[in-house]
Parts: sequence; structure tokens; C-alpha cells
Amino acid sequence: MTVAVLVGMQWGDEGKGKIVDLLSEDMDVIARYQGGANAGHTVVINGEQFILHLVPSGILRENKVCVIGPGVVVDPTALLDEIEELENAGIDVKGRLLISPRAHCILPVNKEVDRANDSRKSQKKIGTTGKGIGPTYSDKSNRIGIPLHYFFDRERLESAVAALIERKNVIIEHQLGGNTTTQKEVVDYIMEVAPRIKPYVGDTKQILWDAIASGKEILCEGAQGTMLDIDHGTYPFVTSSNTVSGGACTGLGIPPKNINRIIGIVKAYTTRVGEGPFPTELKDETGALLQGEGAEFGATTGRPRRCGWFDAVVARYAVDVNGIDEIVLTKLDVLDKLEKIKVCVAYEVDGKRLDRLTDNVAVLEHAKPIYEEMDGWNSKIAGATDYSELPEKAKKYIDFLEKISGAKIKIVSTGPDRNATIIR
Ligand code: IMP
Repeated sequence: MTVAVLVGMQWGDEGKGKIVDLLSEDMDVIARYQGGANAGHTVVINGEQFILHLVPSGILRENKVCVIGPGVVVDPTALLDEIEELENAGIDVKGRLLISPRAHCILPVNKEVDRANDSRKSQKKIGTTGKGIGPTYSDKSNRIGIPLHYFFDRERLESAVAALIERKNVIIEHQLGGNTTTQKEVVDYIMEVAPRIKPYVGDTKQILWDAIASGKEILCEGAQGTMLDIDHGTYPFVTSSNTVSGGACTGLGIPPKNINRIIGIVKAYTTRVGEGPFPTELKDETGALLQGEGAEFGATTGRPRRCGWFDAVVARYAVDVNGIDEIVLTKLDVLDKLEKIKVCVAYEVDGKRLDRLTDNVAVLEHAKPIYEEMDGWNSKIAGATDYSELPEKAKKYIDFLEKISGAKIKIVSTGPDRNATIIR
């Protein structure tokens, strides 16, 4: 029996979609525990590309059960569109996808509030995806949110929507200057989507508990990355959920004692979308090369991703905060054309060396990376499927990252396709 958690070690976009799909082959249940349609998990199978935002990437494997836990925020429109796209591609979703009735609903008004919030002059711009994530988690914490089970209890829904709209409209009218909404508008929207969502709503915790009791294999799929965690990331430049491995327990209702495998996923360099500190960012032609070779554009928003060298301070921190046992290293082939490769091993802050991430993450805004430089392999490894195919210099790079991060690198990804993978 395995209950594994796959967690991003950087600022998201580490390539979780492909790896979840790969690992799903040996899994029975794949479960999303946080976030919403802000995620964009890209999977390429025999040249065909799928981008999943909410549905776990395990859906692409036949007969796998996929669940969306109470810790996720669900945009019904985005979910229904995604299901339709999957069905159109010949992937059977009915009977294999189950969403917790406790998952909160992202209302259209919260997408407007998200965008308006992020353009306020008095507040630091976060560069959110505009998908309504932050406002929906805020409503949940404020106890004015709409969990999916309200959809099927008209009386409770109407009173909850009235309370929510009262608060929302004050903010919209007096602070944000956007369009206010009415109780009827919101209830009508929910009544329209509810019957189509209903077949997918069910007891996800029981499915997971039964799977644990009968010794099945479960993979908990994290979205975003460690550095975007609301408690452990680069606050305030974070998303609004617990992206770290611990989030799998609260976001799904799995007891901590049942989690027995934690897989970190890290890119061979670093990227970040949106605002916030990024010590190893490259604003030169090497950064442009990484962006081009790595096709570093957001799968959800299309925004160009900021690119930079591998940051081992971040990787070590991710190993510690998540309890990572093994690492998947992705996009190694993106470095194929480089003569020299740098790895940040520590920071210099106000003349002092800093080996570990501090809790005062504002320090990262002026931290100078201390680099170790290595020779690039400067040859094509893209598509390699066996460790022996790699040049010595690529093996040396992998060994160095492994040593400095503090966990074994067990899988190396050398291209977007399912097959471009090395198992060590
Ligand atoms: P939000 O999650 O839309 O509230 O955005 C908060 C921050 O997280 C922004 O910097 C986003 O760019 C970032 N973010 C959210 N989802 C992802 C993702 O899936 N990959 C990378 N960054 C993300």
C-alpha cells in the first residue's frame, strides 16, 4: 500500500502533469488536494497534448479513479469545459471522477474581485492568474463560502448567497469599482451548472479510506509549488493554499500516518510566473534561451515565465519542509545548448553568506546568489530514455543537484513526451 504525494519544489510549473501521468500507471487513485483552475498540467501522449487545470492528470490512464478533495476550489464552468474537452478526445470521465461536496465553488464574481484586487494601487501586485482563487479561499476562511453541497439544498444556498453577496458588493462598490452582482444572478448561475456537476459529486474521503484499507496505491497530486505555499512560500507572492505535502492530509482527509512516500519534482533550472522575489533570475540572453528552449509560457494564462539558474537553497528547503524522499528532475534537455551552467548554492545578504532560506523572505529581494559553475554537456540529450545515454557532464550535473538538494534523484525527464524519461 502506498500513499504518495507529488509536490513541486519551486514556484510551480516543474512538469507535474507529465510525471503524475507517468506514475499513475502503477496507481489506483489519483487525488488533487489544493488549488483550482489556476494550475495548468501539460501531458503529451504520442505527440498529442492535453492541458489539465482541475481534473487530476491520472484521468488520461484508463480505469484510474480521480478525486478532487475538499481542499480544492472548483470553478464549475472551468470544470465542465475540461470534462467536455476530455470526453471529446475520447477519454471517459463519468464514473471515474469524483469531487468532494465540501470543495468550495469559485463564483464568477470572485474572478472579477481577483482581477480588481490585483490591480489596486495600494496593494502589492501579485500577478495572480485571475481565476478567483484568493477571494474564494478568503470566503471559505470567512465562513461565507459556497461548498458544492449547498448546490443541492435550495434554501440553504439562497441564504448563503445572500450573505455572501452583501459582503462582496460592499467591497466591489466601495473599494474595487467593478460590477456588483445580485442574489438572483448567482443563484441562477448555480442552478444552471448544478445538475451537470451533480454526477461528479460524492464521498471522496470514503473512496480514499477504502483504498487505504484495501492496500491500494494512491497518488496525491499537488498543484503549484512549495515556494507558492501560503504558509511556507514567498508570502505575499504566493497562492492561497497549502501546496506542501502536508496539504494532502488536510485537503483530502488522509491521516498523516498513512502517507509513506513523498516525491519532489524540480526543474533543472528555475522559473516563476507573476511577481515576487527570484534571486537567480536571468534577464539576459541565457534567460531568453531557457524561455525559448523550455517553452516557458504559462499553460493557464499564456504569460511568459521568468527564467533563471537552479537554486539549491530553494531545493534544500523544499526537501526539508515537504519531507521529500526522492526527486524527479525535469527538463534537463533544455540545458543542452549551454557551454556553462550555474547552480546557486547559497546567497549573499548584506555581506553575509546565507546557506538556508530565512523566514523573512523579503531578504530574497536583495539576496545575491553565490554560484558554482559547471561545464555544460553541449550536446543533444533530448528524448534520452536510459541513464547510460547521458554524457558524463550531464551525469555530473545530476549528481551535484542530488547531493546539494539532499534527496535521491530517481527519475530524469528529457522531453515532454511520456516516453522521454529515464528511471535511475
Ligand atoms: P493565484 O493562485 O491565481 O492566486 O496566483 C498567485 C501566484 O501564484 C501568482 O504569482 C501566480 O502566477 C502563481 N501561480 C498560481 N498557479 C500557478 C501555477 O500553476 N504555476 C505557476 N504559478 C502559479
